[in-house]
Amino acid sequence: MADTNALLALAGRHLLKTYKQPPLVMTRGEGCRLYDTDGRSYLDLYAGIAVCVLGHAHPALVRALTEQAARLGHIANLYYNDKQIELAAQLCARTGMDRVFFTNSGTEANEGALKLARRWFFTQNDPERTGIVATWSSFHGRTMGSVAMTGTPKYWEGFGHRLPGVSQVKYGDLDAMRRRVNDRTAAIIIEPVQGEGGVLPAPPGYLQGLRALCDETGVLLIVDEIQTGIGRSGKYLAVQHEGVVPDVLTLAKGLAGGVPIGAFLVREKYAEALAPGTHGSTFGGNPLACAAALAVFETLDREGLIEGAAAKGAYFLSGLEGLAAKHPALVKGARGRGLLCGLVLADHVEARLVLGAMRDRGVLIAQAGDRVLRFAPALVISEAELDEGLAALDAVLTDMTREAT
Ligand SMILES: Cc1ncc(COP(=O)(O)O)c(C=O)c1O
Repeated sequence: MADTNALLALAGRHLLKTYKQPPLVMTRGEGCRLYDTDGRSYLDLYAGIAVCVLGHAHPALVRALTEQAARLGHIANLYYNDKQIELAAQLCARTGMDRVFFTNSGTEANEGALKLARRWFFTQNDPERTGIVATWSSFHGRTMGSVAMTGTPKYWEGFGHRLPGVSQVKYGDLDAMRRRVNDRTAAIIIEPVQGEGGVLPAPPGYLQGLRALCDETGVLLIVDEIQTGIGRSGKYLAVQHEGVVPDVLTLAKGLAGGVPIGAFLVREKYAEALAPGTHGSTFGGNPLACAAALAVFETLDREGLIEGAAAKGAYFLSGLEGLAAKHPALVKGARGRGLLCGLVLADHVEARLVLGAMRDRGVLIAQAGDRVLRFAPALVISEAELDEGLAALDAVLTDMTREAT
């Protein structure tokens, strides 16, 4: 067995300290369980932050990766590869979009979307039309374009000038967006549920309102479904609950069930914005990642996991609402969509303390901001496992109440 202390000492010496990690080293996963170097098991209710939709080591994913690694791993985009073409066709069929560009992460997908929107107006002889309107408390990634769109100023600090032409308005406020958009605006970028910003679903009618605004003004609607996409919301895309089709759609996280991949998808009208040579990626859409994504699609269909996410999500949310009612001094309420749920804590309760206490009980969750617990389990999770998570949370909140009195 690996020596935990020796590994932690090496981590302390050699990894940049960008993450606040507890002293645990994970070595293995199976389904919704993770195992650390000391052999302790954990119930995983965050799935690599909404990534491992099939859980850990799903046989279909393992098989697809093993077979593809033995056949063809990487060739770059100098030539077509069969898996990328098949995946692009599947993505378009499932999303209603027309064309795909593959990246390796969510932030790259958003960078590509931003470049496409700006270049579209360049090709329309309107090169000054470069404005991007995003929303406060949004999260779009950590590269310079995505960080500028991200509506959380702490992520901007210390990195010099932000990308010009990018601004934010209040999330959910259609009038504010209408006032901000003008003839210099190229695109609006929006999450259908703000994930990092606190698991905050868009208010009813907001996304349709943005669609109508974009139709009126010619502004491109970029929908960031990096966290909400691939079935997590209970439909393939969260915008499908609202009947909204974006002009540009960004995906990543769950797309290949844990193998790094991202994508931006566009409607045909805008496809010519990125002509040969205007954008590229060495790794994007490589056969290994695309084979994994194809296995994810096939498994989502075969196991009925997207419909399952809607039902399990409703079940879990009602459990969280029950806990909110039982612990009103600690919890303000619960919200979410499908298997992306948040528990909103009272102003005096720090999410990280609840996370730590849950971990001590063998249950792993994430946070969204300082006051929201975020649950984004694998779509393969069982009701029994969800119950186990709810029971641990109930026990933690009961302990906290007892300590406070
Ligand atoms: C909505 C959203 N957009 C973009 C990103 C960035 O994705 P990545 O970390 O893969 O770059 C994230 C990651 O959390 C996200 O939740």
